[in-house]
Amino acid sequence: MLGIFNGNILPVEEIKISPFSRAYTFSDAVYEVVPFFKGKPIAMDLHMERLVKSCHAIGIEVEHSVVQAEIIELANLALNNSNGYVYYQLTRGVDKSRSHIYSNNLQCESFGYAAHTSQTIAPQKAKIVQDIRWARCDIKSTALLGNILLMNQAYADGCSEIIMHRNNFITESGSSNIFIVKDAKIMTPPREANILAGITRELLIKNFSKSFEIAEEPCHIDLLAEANVVFLTSSTKGIMPINEIEGNNYIFSKDHPIFMDLKNQFDKFLETAF
Ligand code: PDD
Repeated sequence: MLGIFNGNILPVEEIKISPFSRAYTFSDAVYEVVPFFKGKPIAMDLHMERLVKSCHAIGIEVEHSVVQAEIIELANLALNNSNGYVYYQLTRGVDKSRSHIYSNNLQCESFGYAAHTSQTIAPQKAKIVQDIRWARCDIKSTALLGNILLMNQAYADGCSEIIMHRNNFITESGSSNIFIVKDAKIMTPPREANILAGITRELLIKNFSKSFEIAEEPCHIDLLAEANVVFLTSSTKGIMPINEIEGNNYIFSKDHPIFMDLKNQFDKFLETAF
């Protein structure tokens, strides 16, 4: 697998990292996942904008034109005009004092790799869980222990996805945003619900609100029992339906006309818009 470390492209097996990297000791790092469709980057500007915001939020300097060029170079070499993504993280740097208070003189480290994505993703079973994460889920931080704990507990219970809530209001899934279709309306929790502002979510809202009724509004967990379709969105999964929710009488119909229509239109949009 091909990777990039501090601007040098090389096989990931050859990358040497200090155990004192703050990525290693503190998860003091932020990241992006940029999808590529047939070799073309999807919404690169939005991904760079979010990376800059995440960097600013934790006080890391970033030259986004350099990052963008590195991501494109890596994708061109590794993805070969197929579908995939580039993972790219920026870390505060190596800090042998392992100090909670960081020095501003540390040398930022960057690491990325490219991987292919599969064409079709099967519907998944989800478990409803309490959102135990921190109060800054808007930062795309590599510190994802909350997500990992919840997802692995759900996996042990036979589910591959989670639907998180705080005080009974849905936030998002473990590594994706959530949409709920009820009758003709498509609802998604607002950004104020302390979620990651997903780019796929934004593309759907910005480009399909004219042809579909899409509302960003608080979503109570009771809505799940009445939903016609629940689906997740992310850069690696696109639009992915949930077919079963543990302990809930939600029944997924993959032929639901609004869902089918939206998914078809979104897939076409990815092919033509970028
Ligand atoms: N995850 N919410 C969370 C918690 C996420 O981790 C992600 C993305 C999303 C969707 O964001 P986007 O549409 O920009 O991919 C929402 C990525 C893919 C990951 O961690 O691999």
